[in-house]
Amino acid sequence: MKNKLSITRRGFIRLFILGVLSLIAGKGFLNTRNLELVKLKVGLKSLPNAFDGLKVGQITDIHAGPLVSRELVREGVDKLMSARPDLILLTGDFVSGATKILWTTYGGFKEKHYKYCMEELGRLKAPLGVFAVLGNHDFWSGIEVADKIANGLENIGVRVLRNEFQTLKRGGETLQLIGVDDYWEGSYSLSRALKNVPEDACRILLSHNPDVNEDIENLGERIDFIISGHTHGGQVVLPFVGALYVPSPFGQKYLAGLVKDGKRQTYVSRGLGLFFIPIRLNCPPDVSVLTLYQA
Ligand SMILES: [Fe+2]
Repeated sequence: MKNKLSITRRGFIRLFILGVLSLIAGKGFLNTRNLELVKLKVGLKSLPNAFDGLKVGQITDIHAGPLVSRELVREGVDKLMSARPDLILLTGDFVSGATKILWTTYGGFKEKHYKYCMEELGRLKAPLGVFAVLGNHDFWSGIEVADKIANGLENIGVRVLRNEFQTLKRGGETLQLIGVDDYWEGSYSLSRALKNVPEDACRILLSHNPDVNEDIENLGERIDFIISGHTHGGQVVLPFVGALYVPSPFGQKYLAGLVKDGKRQTYVSRGLGLFFIPIRLNCPPDVSVLTLYQA
């Protein structure tokens, strides 16, 4: 009788754990579709008068692939366009890439995912243009895939900044938009990107990975504002524990939101898509609109 009771108790505990995990997974799954439009004001001392009030739209970490639907990308584009941004920035991981560990699970790059991603992003339009940088996943199915993504973006009117800069002009004043290949990849070069950028200019850096901060320190360079993604806000964030995994040596520092390092600021979006598991917990996907003002 005692034995029977203990089996029942064990079974109950197992059922309870299974129930809790199902609830977490269910909530997490819903979280993947609960797309937020984040609106934030960012003060920059170096911002020229003509750019005061500039609305910068950002979409990052789409991860087009089996875990991210075309509908979610469409919703992200629609939400961003509804805010009427002056400038749109796309900060990498357009697709989910292959790795030796995960290749068998997700099969790496697929043309159909790339195609819907480009078709939806092709609807993005802004007065000062649409600019992009590549993320680590864009490289992980091979350099030829990274080049294909860059070419595909150019074909839909998106200017891809690969270790280079673009001068934006408004009302007779300028702002320097700098973009680098992903920080983890061999083709990354911030020093090349900064070559010939005017010394006293307002400098905004597009970098998929916010860890680029450490290289800015190493190079002794000045950047006013970094716009990035990559960490997915942790993707699965447990109450009292925090994010289960953050792909950064800085831990939770660049998890999400606005981070200040002295005079430099970094904005990290939680991203639109997801990777590895089809779950987001306490970490809904986002697209962002950052309104810049003179601090
Ligand atoms: Fe990502």
